[in-house]
Amino acid sequence: MMINKGAIGVFDSGYGGLTVLESLQAELPSYDFIYLGDNARTPYGSRSFEVIYQYTLEAVKFLFKQGCPLVILACNTASAKALRTIQQNDLASLAPTNRVLGVLRPTTEEIGTLTSSGHVGVLGTNGTINSNSYAIEIKKFFPALTVVQKSCPMWVPLVENNEFDNVGGEFYIKKYIDEILHQDDEIDTLVLACTHYPILEEKIKKHLPKHIRLVSQGNLVASKLKTYLNRHSEINDRLTKTSALNVLTTECNTSFDLVASKFYKKEIKSITVKL
Ligand code: DGL
Repeated sequence: MMINKGAIGVFDSGYGGLTVLESLQAELPSYDFIYLGDNARTPYGSRSFEVIYQYTLEAVKFLFKQGCPLVILACNTASAKALRTIQQNDLASLAPTNRVLGVLRPTTEEIGTLTSSGHVGVLGTNGTINSNSYAIEIKKFFPALTVVQKSCPMWVPLVENNEFDNVGGEFYIKKYIDEILHQDDEIDTLVLACTHYPILEEKIKKHLPKHIRLVSQGNLVASKLKTYLNRHSEINDRLTKTSALNVLTTECNTSFDLVASKFYKKEIKSITVKL
């Protein structure tokens, strides 16, 4: 496997992080990227802290071995449950000059500027919502905001199985939207805090009152990363910029490539790897 040392590693539990990769490449077109999807062990959304932490740590170690000075956890579940522990307990012994960043911070430090009512809703997997990480992080930046959360366990399977464009799919999309708005009718901003949910964006909008803003994370994560790299030349200088992309999956690569285009909207030729 020929990979540029100096690529930005983008990790997800499976396909979903390709929605984030797309935004990262649009914002940083000259940079090299390695995408790693742990499709063999997806989904992470319903797993325990210990398992998500162990899987995510293995992925980070693997990407460091490929020469990535910087790894982005595009997966909300991994960002919510494993990122802090990896940053605090593992990074110093693994590769102290490398960095691991997630998708929560770019969203939580911006969200207060997007809401007028001060009531924000967060939609995510069971793991992300039960960790309470969004509420905790948002309160650090915007203590006065009211944060309402709702897990949407059927949405990832609907996307993965291409079953969202029918009556059954509509039922579950509407169900979770109705439930979160029922908890707090002053919500004016809803965060799609899961890699898969941007695929459902148009369907979700159909069931939302017009004044409610939907926030997808790809663009936020990408613009915050650009700012981060401008501020951190010690990382930026180590990143190679030949516009290369390598896509790796822990599952069968030919099946990955078939589904991946739904998330990435371009053809993908991935390679199977073992973590
Ligand atoms: N990537 C996960 C996330 O963003 C969704 C898929 C999964 O459960 O593994 O939370």
